[in-house]
Amino acid sequence: MNKRVSIGAFSALILGLSLALVGTGNSALPQVEPAYVKECGACHIPYPAQYLPKRSWERILGSLDKHFGENATLSPKALTPIKTYLDSHAADSAAGNPRIMRDVGVNIMPLRIVEMPFWIHIHRKQIDRHAFDNPKIKNAGNCGACHRGAANGKFGDDD
Ligand code: HEC
Ligand code: HEC
Repeated sequence: MNKRVSIGAFSALILGLSLALVGTGNSALPQVEPAYVKECGACHIPYPAQYLPKRSWERILGSLDKHFGENATLSPKALTPIKTYLDSHAADSAAGNPRIMRDVGVNIMPLRIVEMPFWIHIHRKQIDRHAFDNPKIKNAGNCGACHRGAANGKFGDDD
């Protein structure tokens, strides 16, 4: 067996294992609502629900006709599972992490993850180095430019 074939088979095995894990629901990988991935991952990565509060997601879903210069309108039927998913996985939901909400005033309604204090705090070094001015990165919301696992909701040091 040549090397390329064995690597291919190995990747297939790993993929198979991860899919199996996702299937059981026991995996550490986050369970992401398929409708969310499909509809809200069409133009950019499906941004992690846990990085914005409920009120921000509600506002975003309520103004999809004027979505950052795009019309991203969805039918009420398509919207329902997405609303439910974002509401139950937002930063201030039971599934959320209180650290993400730190320094977010009750009257503040961030519409971008990159406006969240936790995000600014983590990326302070990159902001100081003007990393987000790099045309290859284009804008800070392009998480996948630096986080290879972003599309799968992974932002750890090794992702
Ligand atoms: C027609 C394309 C399109 C679709 C579909 C779409 N978006 Fe967007 N979205 C954009 C554009 C364009 C931006 C702005 C990109 C930028 O300038 O950073 C954006 C930005 C965002 C941001 C801000 C990201 C950040 O932190 O900077 C969020 C959050 C977001 N979208 C959520 C959603 C959700 C939720 C849905 C599904 C209901 C959705 N988007 C569907 C085009 C789209
Ligand atoms: C210019 C490259 C760049 C972009 C773009 C970027 N990040 Fe990061 N991010 C980093 C670096 C580098 C670190 C590690 C920071 C450190 O430890 O000093 C990091 C760390 C993180 C962490 C902490 C991970 C951990 O477990 O320690 C999260 C969460 C994160 N980023 C989310 C995001 C999200 C969400 C986006 C898009 C809205 C994004 N990042 C865009 C470079 C980037």
